[in-house]
Amino acid sequence: KKASMILDRDYQIGKVDPRVFGSFIEHLGRAVYGGIYEPGHPNADEAGFRKDVIEKVRELGVPIIRYPGGNFVSGFNWEDSVGPRDQRPRRLDLAWFTTESNEVGLHEFADWAGKVGSEIMYAINLGTRGPENARDIVEYANHKGGSKFSDMRIKNGKKDPLGIKMWCLGNEMDGPWQMGHKTAAEYGHIANEAAKMMKWVDPTIELVACGSSSSQMPTFGDWELTMLNECYENIDYISLHRYYGNPTNDTPGFLARSMDLDDFIHTVISICDAVKGKKHQKKQINLSFDEWNVWYHSNEQDKEIWKREKWGPALPLLEDVYNFEDALLAGSILITFLRNADRVKVACLAQLVNVIAPIMTRKGGGCWAQTIFYPFLHVSRYGRGTALKAIVNTPVYDCADYEGVPLVDATATLGDDGSVTVFCVNRDMKEDFCLDLDLRSFGDLRLAEHILLHHDDVKAVNTEENPGNVTPMAGPGGKAEDGKAEIRLPALSWNVIRFE
Ligand code: AHR
Repeated sequence: KKASMILDRDYQIGKVDPRVFGSFIEHLGRAVYGGIYEPGHPNADEAGFRKDVIEKVRELGVPIIRYPGGNFVSGFNWEDSVGPRDQRPRRLDLAWFTTESNEVGLHEFADWAGKVGSEIMYAINLGTRGPENARDIVEYANHKGGSKFSDMRIKNGKKDPLGIKMWCLGNEMDGPWQMGHKTAAEYGHIANEAAKMMKWVDPTIELVACGSSSSQMPTFGDWELTMLNECYENIDYISLHRYYGNPTNDTPGFLARSMDLDDFIHTVISICDAVKGKKHQKKQINLSFDEWNVWYHSNEQDKEIWKREKWGPALPLLEDVYNFEDALLAGSILITFLRNADRVKVACLAQLVNVIAPIMTRKGGGCWAQTIFYPFLHVSRYGRGTALKAIVNTPVYDCADYEGVPLVDATATLGDDGSVTVFCVNRDMKEDFCLDLDLRSFGDLRLAEHILLHHDDVKAVNTEENPGNVTPMAGPGGKAEDGKAEIRLPALSWNVIRFE
């Protein structure tokens, strides 16, 4: 089969904000305890953090990590997580029915974030708490000293401010499962008041207000309109969250889910701009897609865990084992973010270690990459620079929820060094594609590399024993000359085609 793509250096979408390669660590399951932190492990450093995990996170190149939740944050008191460790309280976590020891808190996490080269995107509790505590934590983290909370930070061992720039105003406050769930008007009001006070303490911070927890929520749309009406002036980003699953084992339908993601993004952009117009505002609200992934494999297992050992610490929750088709969808999701690079400025793969994660660990044992690790790694490594508006001509297919799904899902970026990288998923279950590339304005580029992720079994997974089962390899490539190229894309595959 044949598809074609035209790229031109003048057809640009915009700069790719590196923060779209963000991720997320929540105090949930074995993300922190038994994930990034395992004192006594042969690979643990002096602070108890696993060096093998640090290495893998660094490999992914994650510039920003959302922390400490998630649903967890809506019942969390930040003061519990600072100060002498032996005085920190153990608390019941009503989000995940576990017990939180607070052994790892804000200071320890900030140290770890420094080790992996990431900034923190700190979520505050707007569930059981309000603007007063929001003000206090900004003072604690970012004020230089000479006030109650900044002096408390200094006493706790950090003379210099932590300098946290991005803050989330709560988490999924539209969801009835959330502690302190609110109506859109209630949330918009409290988010606005918290935002004002937080920015009065530190005017350099950026704030993300909670959009809907999914486009499937009955209140989606109305939630955004109502709460933006309350807080538009004082926030900078609106959040989007979305997880996909394939419980009916419909691979073509599953791979088409990035169409849903694209619709979601465009609907939220339209609502932000409608409120902007209504309010006669100059400021544009951009998008923080701060939770995205595949999540469904572990649902039944989690119910069993809770039946057995509710309130246990570090329960092995949300430990999805990702297969090859999940990696293909992750690739299409990343392509969708690049295509919307003008408005999606932050995105967080949820999550990073053990909990719906690209990186897995075993207690006392190894650390390995799941299938979804690879598309993320590739786009984070080669997708920086400028997102290009690719003109793609491809045959399409229909599935249960979508008509006209492109068989070749593709986009491209122009690196600051002049290199061009094409990312594409061949969604065709059976047939290879020949992709004709027209690189008209790029001069004499040579085909530097074709990276391929493919497995004959869509359900193939990586395990500690067989971590290289689904792993990138050299692709078949093709020819490139005189500003044109022809590349072979094997059936069902993730492809990274690099021109230099
Ligand atoms: O990432 C897992 C959970 O998914 C988060 O805690 C919550 O925000 C979302 O529902």
